[in-house]
Amino acid sequence: MSKYRIGLGVTGGIAAYKAIEVMRLLQKAGCDVSVAMTRHATEFIQPLTFRALTDKYVIVDDYDPENPDPIAHVNFSQEIDLLLVVPATANIIAKFANGIADDFLSSTYLASTAPVLIAPAMNTTMWEQPATQRNIEQLKTDGVRFVEPVAGELACKTVGTGKLEDVENIVRQALAMLDSTFQIPGSETRENLEPGTWNNKDLIGEHFLITVGGTREAIDPVRFISNHSSGKMGFAVAEAARKRGAEVTIVRGSTTANPPEGIRVIDAVSARAMFDAVMAELGKATVFVGAAAVADYAPAHAASTKIKKDGIETMTLELKKTPDILSEVSKRRKDGQLVIGFAAETNDVVTYAKIKMGKKGLDLVVANDITKQGAGFNTDTNIATVISRLGETELPLMSKREMADKILDEVLKLRKK
Ligand code: CTP
Repeated sequence: MSKYRIGLGVTGGIAAYKAIEVMRLLQKAGCDVSVAMTRHATEFIQPLTFRALTDKYVIVDDYDPENPDPIAHVNFSQEIDLLLVVPATANIIAKFANGIADDFLSSTYLASTAPVLIAPAMNTTMWEQPATQRNIEQLKTDGVRFVEPVAGELACKTVGTGKLEDVENIVRQALAMLDSTFQIPGSETRENLEPGTWNNKDLIGEHFLITVGGTREAIDPVRFISNHSSGKMGFAVAEAARKRGAEVTIVRGSTTANPPEGIRVIDAVSARAMFDAVMAELGKATVFVGAAAVADYAPAHAASTKIKKDGIETMTLELKKTPDILSEVSKRRKDGQLVIGFAAETNDVVTYAKIKMGKKGLDLVVANDITKQGAGFNTDTNIATVISRLGETELPLMSKREMADKILDEVLKLRKK
């Protein structure tokens, strides 16, 4: 007998073909999969594909005379341990949220008591629509879990959030909902690989929340105060953590580099916006990394219209301290949450970094001397000292991507202590 029975709902989006891979991985993990498709999903893939691979009738319309079960939505819904919808369109999310049951899948949702996991995929504008976000919030309140879409190039050739999460991650989360010890056969666990190896998944189960880039503090609608941060170091940490199996959320300020593919990105360009975004996401995080160069001061009163220069010879800008995101995260930390900071210094690097570590209550600080050649802003390399309660580790000149793995190795050592 199979370990778990999964009802796989497939709806009409370009990512529908990825549901085949999800089904295969679930089967490989020993699950019994039954598929329900919406009518629009059948425009993208044939029910026959799933029928051949599951050896079961694939229900699209339970009123179809060919349907072998006259009360399929009741039987199907009560014979599953999990309802997993991949991909989920804005339409099915809206129907679930509002109790509409006008097709087989939406009726199944209403008739089921099984836990529900939804992996949405859609165009960025549809994803960001207040209506969609409202429906998602409603479903979360109703106990539905989501595998949030990630940023990347979408089928409509735009770049933004809305791409289906990596299928392995979807399956991993589905299985974790049923049994936290369940593993996809062949996927590595923390214990059996050396840190930093290319296929090492030693960060499975961690959720990294990372601030990246500089911030822009508005003077008026046209001008702002900012800094030279490119975002390269933060993006490198995000990419490395993700490769090693962690879930990653980036809160991005202003960057010149591009975020790595397949990672959820929340834009927050000012220190205040970044603070708000971080606090909203913090509950899910097991590790917070403050890699952003957050402006320490912002104009106290940003003008709402463009400031004109006529008749003004000298100008004084009044600046006000911004909220310290890292310190606040550290104050609000839950048990087991690790808080990592960066310290960019020009002199007495390690001394200042240690002071920062104590003042901000950090588990680990990455200190770098930005005056050294090959270190600091806008380069692809870095030189740093990692300081934690376990000691100091010198990281000589290396690529930011390599350094990201070394930093994560130190984070893992702290986790294991
Ligand atoms: N940081 C933050 N929010 C701020 C300022 C800084 O989260 N408003 C974080 C940065 O992301 C970084 C760390 O704090 O991880 C160190 O930032 P830095 O600006 O170097 O430290 P400060 O505490 O501002 O000290 P100083 O500017 O005096 O060196």
